[in-house]
Amino acid sequence: MSEPSRPTAVDLSRVLEQHLESLQAAGLEWVPASKEPLAPPKLPQSTALPAAAPVATSLAGTSSSLPLLQPSDNSAHTLDARRQQLDLLRQQVAACTRCAALASTRTQTVFGVGPLDPEVCFVGEAPGADEDAQGEPFVGAAGQMLNRIIMGCGMRRDEVYICNILRCRPPSNRQPLPDEAGNCREWLERQLELVRPRHLCCLGAVAAQNLLGTRLSIGKLRGRFHDYQGIPVLCTYHPSYLIRIPDPAKQREAKAQVWEDMKLLLTRMGRPIPTSKK
Ligand code: URA
Repeated sequence: MSEPSRPTAVDLSRVLEQHLESLQAAGLEWVPASKEPLAPPKLPQSTALPAAAPVATSLAGTSSSLPLLQPSDNSAHTLDARRQQLDLLRQQVAACTRCAALASTRTQTVFGVGPLDPEVCFVGEAPGADEDAQGEPFVGAAGQMLNRIIMGCGMRRDEVYICNILRCRPPSNRQPLPDEAGNCREWLERQLELVRPRHLCCLGAVAAQNLLGTRLSIGKLRGRFHDYQGIPVLCTYHPSYLIRIPDPAKQREAKAQVWEDMKLLLTRMGRPIPTSKK
């Protein structure tokens, strides 16, 4: 077998051009110039997408020089390749400084947890203090409520994927700013592209409005399915909202509405609806 020939400058510029085109197709509008020298890209050996990222360049707005992932068509990717890419993405997210203020106050980034190809991915708003400390979404009080919702649906937490619109904790748990959600959008999209959930469930208005690109209230968005890139999306109230309702009757009513939403989701998933909800 002959040695593979070294890539020429023309090969490199073609790979770079293709890569930029695919970023553009994925919605990226600009890529800042890097002061760091570029590492030589590894050219794909075949036309199928390789397991790990083929193009090495520094990533927009991050301090890392990890390989930039090839977005879009993952159809040829094996589970292992997707796992590797998700791990690379996690490392890129951990080095992200696109939101300078959030990067300076966070303890760590909070990426997401759960298996690939889950039946459902729950999308929340942003990490709180507990999540910032532990590096996992929904581990505080809201997480306890979410766990009860998941169990009430007859599922286990470790069989669903959980992530947020933001990967950094906003100070004092304020809502994400539009530019913060915009900066984190690429991470979210790429994460969902690699995780490939069969259904999405947005928890609260911030998640629903950001994911779906709408200003409609959660009251108007819940109770029916929406679409995110071909994935059915159900929106419901945020677990923190359920906890915060002071009036017990109103809280029961909101919980009942969440249960109605979960029944819709379970039906769409083709799963049985547990008779005694916890
Ligand atoms: N914890 C999270 O991870 N996300 C939320 O939206 C709320 C609490």
